[in-house]
Amino acid sequence: MNACIRAVVRTGIYHGLEVVGIMRGYQGMIDNEFKPMQSHDVSNIIQRGGTILKTARSKKFMESDGRKIAADNLKAQGIEGFVAIGGDGTFRGATLFEQEHGIICVGVPGTIDNDLFGTDYTLGFDTAINTAIDAIDKIRDTASSHNRLFFVEVMGRDAGFIALSTGIAGGAEAILIPETETNIDYLIQLLERGWNRQKSSAIVIVSEGDEKGGAIEIAKMVKEKFNQYDTRVSIIGHIQRGGNPSVRDRIFGSRLGMAAVEALMQGKKNVMAGVVNHEIIFTPFENAVKHQEIDKEMLRLAAILAM
Ligand code: F6P
Repeated sequence: MNACIRAVVRTGIYHGLEVVGIMRGYQGMIDNEFKPMQSHDVSNIIQRGGTILKTARSKKFMESDGRKIAADNLKAQGIEGFVAIGGDGTFRGATLFEQEHGIICVGVPGTIDNDLFGTDYTLGFDTAINTAIDAIDKIRDTASSHNRLFFVEVMGRDAGFIALSTGIAGGAEAILIPETETNIDYLIQLLERGWNRQKSSAIVIVSEGDEKGGAIEIAKMVKEKFNQYDTRVSIIGHIQRGGNPSVRDRIFGSRLGMAAVEALMQGKKNVMAGVVNHEIIFTPFENAVKHQEIDKEMLRLAAILAM
């Protein structure tokens, strides 16, 4: 996100605009937390995780009274349009805001979950999967040295993209995601098959949003019927959401930040800037918020390689 903020500020200044940072997202609009931004305000941030502008989930902005206060505050600052980094909630809020108050927004897809439609990647996904794969590789060292079965939980409240990517890249024996039905008996068959073929260890990647439960619940269900391996559970957790961004995320954030500012200058509104097949495209918010479908070819690949 910092790479994107830096690009927004510097592109705006390059084009002669006045750029103002809004602290804590929509909540900052309501609480009048504005910070005029100069080029040096975004120096030395491209390599830092999180966001220098901070973030918040604003309940008040969900109400029309809250949005009215926010609009009055923005107008008093002379702000005509803004770039919002976020996901479906952010874009739904921006759409209502524009309809009610005419302040325009171009969005940048910011979620580690990679589940927005209209972009091949969302900001933070690449960093998150690289952090997760580093952890999974380390877990595999213990799994194989101790002949253990590990259930490793990765993030993804409603989406299995992190699980699918890290499962394939980490050579997981099975990957459980919310988009496909998890069948515990079938999972046990897979693990049993491996056991019978003298596989000394196994890793099952569980997306936190799997409909059968997280790694703890799944491990319990499996152990009740299949207990050959010494079993452990590991939940990777919030380290997936932070840390120095990957090269891909820095470049991606920079490209989208520049594209979003230039789109606002052209009067584009209620659209999300994204990258599809390496090219910047703009997708209406109403489509961007639709859940991105899991690539069936990736699912097939995972199933074949996990044999
Ligand atoms: O919304 C994206 C996400 O990364 C989910 O995958 C995860 O469940 C959630 O955020 C964690 O959010 P919080 O830090 O509020 O628990």
